Amino acid sequence: MKNKGVQKRTLAAGEVAVKVLVVMIAVCIVTVFAGSALAVPSGKTVEWSTPAGKVIFDGKVHADKGLKCSDCHTKIFKMKKGADQMTMAEINKGKFCGECHNGEKAFKTDDAANCSRCHKK
Ligand code: HEC
Ligand code: HEC
Ligand code: HEC
Repeated sequence: MKNKGVQKRTLAAGEVAVKVLVVMIAVCIVTVFAGSALAVPSGKTVEWSTPAGKVIFDGKVHADKGLKCSDCHTKIFKMKKGADQMTMAEINKGKFCGECHNGEKAFKTDDAANCSRCHKK
């Protein structure tokens, strides 16, 4: 009888350990996903230097406009800093940033009044 009780307690302790482990793994997974969801753009920026001044893409500005990751990745932009080789001419033709910054979804790029909204000296 006494022996059985000891065995039972040991089992219970083992079960608790497994549960703690499961919770720990779950917390790790959630942390990793939350981390990547915030990696870029929410809270992060990507910068390019150009002769017209550096361009700063702010993830938060875009997330705050209700844009989802899938609105940009990966049909417009690769998920790697510097992976997209852009030119202003292509953007003005509606590629990359120009997919939205065309005067319809967002302010257009080929208007001299707007250059400084992206290009900072
Ligand atoms: C409005 C467009 C847009 C949206 C929305 C967007 N991204 Fe991006 N993301 C970009 C651009 C632009 C880059 C830089 C690509 C380049 O340099 O070629 C980038 C880069 C990244 C990178 C690479 C960062 C690095 O340092 O290499 C990751 C990761 C990323 N985005 C994840 C996300 C996630 C997760 C979301 C949703 C929460 C998201 N992005 C939403 C435009 C966007
Ligand atoms: C929506 C943001 C945005 C606006 C508005 C914008 N640009 Fe750009 N511009 C960019 C990005 C992004 C690049 C590419 C950076 C890179 O990949 O090196 C770029 C690149 C450039 C370059 C580098 C050379 C080239 O041809 O790619 C010049 C010069 C330039 N822009 C001038 C202008 C002028 C002038 C205006 C206004 C008439 C303007 N830009 C408006 C985002 C913008
Ligand atoms: C999926 C659509 C989309 C793409 C792609 C996109 N933007 Fe935007 N962006 C928006 C919207 C929407 C706004 C807010 C509306 C507005 O200001 O016209 C905005 C706002 C901005 C602003 C804020 C300007 C200000 O004065 O507050 C900057 C800077 C900007 N974008 C730069 C960029 C650059 C640089 C790229 C390319 C690397 C880019 N965006 C790609 C949709 C987009």
